[in-house]
Amino acid sequence: MDLTIKVPLKSFVMLFNEMRVLEYRYFVKHSVQVAKLTMKIAERLDLPYNRDNTYFSGLFHDLGLVLKASVENYELFADMFRRVPDLERIVITFDRHDQHSIISYMIARQSKPFCPVCARAILYHHTPFQKIKEDDDLILLSNSIKTADLISLATLKQEETNKELDAEFFADLISSIKKDAGILDEVRKAAIDLLLDVRTNSIIIDDDLCFDSDQRLDITDFKQLARIMATLLDFRSPYTRNHTFACTRVAEILNEETLGDADVTLIITSALLHDIGKIKTPLSILHKRSRLNSEELVIMKRHVVDTYYMLERAGLRVFSIIGAAHHERLDGSGYPLGLTDEQLLYHQKMIQICDVFSALVEERPYRNALTIEEALGVIEKEVEHGKLDADIFEKLKEIARNYDLKEQISFKHVFEELFYENTDEVSRMINLELERI
Ligand SMILES: [Fe+2]
Ligand SMILES: [Fe+2]
Ligand SMILES: [Fe+2]
Repeated sequence: MDLTIKVPLKSFVMLFNEMRVLEYRYFVKHSVQVAKLTMKIAERLDLPYNRDNTYFSGLFHDLGLVLKASVENYELFADMFRRVPDLERIVITFDRHDQHSIISYMIARQSKPFCPVCARAILYHHTPFQKIKEDDDLILLSNSIKTADLISLATLKQEETNKELDAEFFADLISSIKKDAGILDEVRKAAIDLLLDVRTNSIIIDDDLCFDSDQRLDITDFKQLARIMATLLDFRSPYTRNHTFACTRVAEILNEETLGDADVTLIITSALLHDIGKIKTPLSILHKRSRLNSEELVIMKRHVVDTYYMLERAGLRVFSIIGAAHHERLDGSGYPLGLTDEQLLYHQKMIQICDVFSALVEERPYRNALTIEEALGVIEKEVEHGKLDADIFEKLKEIARNYDLKEQISFKHVFEELFYENTDEVSRMINLELERI
């Protein structure tokens, strides 16, 4: 019997869409719209790429924008992503050299089953076709993303001002597609036909994901997609920028010598998704410097319930069970269910300790970061009080002796894991690709 876990690719798209809240409301809506439109335009052009690939080239085209904005200009990130659907304005304000396209490409090309050739199309989603030096099909695909981007942004702007998507809106939109000299004639025609076709006109209005792929991924490949979700989550706050990464890395070191590959991957992937519900926790609570009041505490603690249901709705049951139990405690004092030792699996207990450890060594608005030794001291007390697992804690102490844990979980590795490259190589590639464009 084959017990290997396979994950539907559709689950990733559904989970991505679940992130359509708070700061990411417009970003996710825009990404999904561009994905749908790119896929439909590419279909009309009969491009030699399958639908999953053209969809993902749209879905991932602006990932780099989140990372760049969060790191370089957090205030802009927190403000503009939340209130202004004008993502273009964010690009013009702080990304004149179009680095976000390169960052998006670098993430996308590592994401199986997304084909690296299609990922290249993302590089040129702000580039007029005349300046692209690639083969014809790739130019057509990148130009399709560019056109889908234009349509989506116009739609979001219209919605933000509470104006209807009426006939006048569509007439203006079509005339701006006609006027854009950077769009190829074939793409222009396909996009306008799409908007004027009674069967497809609703694509920008409805919430249908339009993703019906039945492709299933090996868990190892899904792990990289889960890492993208974790990065979106962590980059939402400067305090959590490597929280999920650190929790996952510690879980990996703790288990790589004792468990088989399948179990390690299961734990790592669950760790990557364990806090995904925190996307719904308002920043005012995440960043509060003083004690949380009882209402705020409920909202804060609710993130595990959100994690559970977000993953369940996306059809990711195994990860919801393992990941959403990270605030349970062995003596039944945890939340949300008050599960006890005998009701908890090893995988769940593992993520509990890794989560506490990574949270303690990070700075929080109300306290400084603890040293590794201080964090181990805090966890030891929890173990003595019967809250966390003693055997796993022994292992943690052992790896703290054998590894430079501070280095292992430092922020510089976040990009390395995401891009599969070392930090120097990441900056070298960004400059290199910049020269190409
Ligand atoms: Fe963009
Ligand atoms: Fe965009
Ligand atoms: Fe948590």
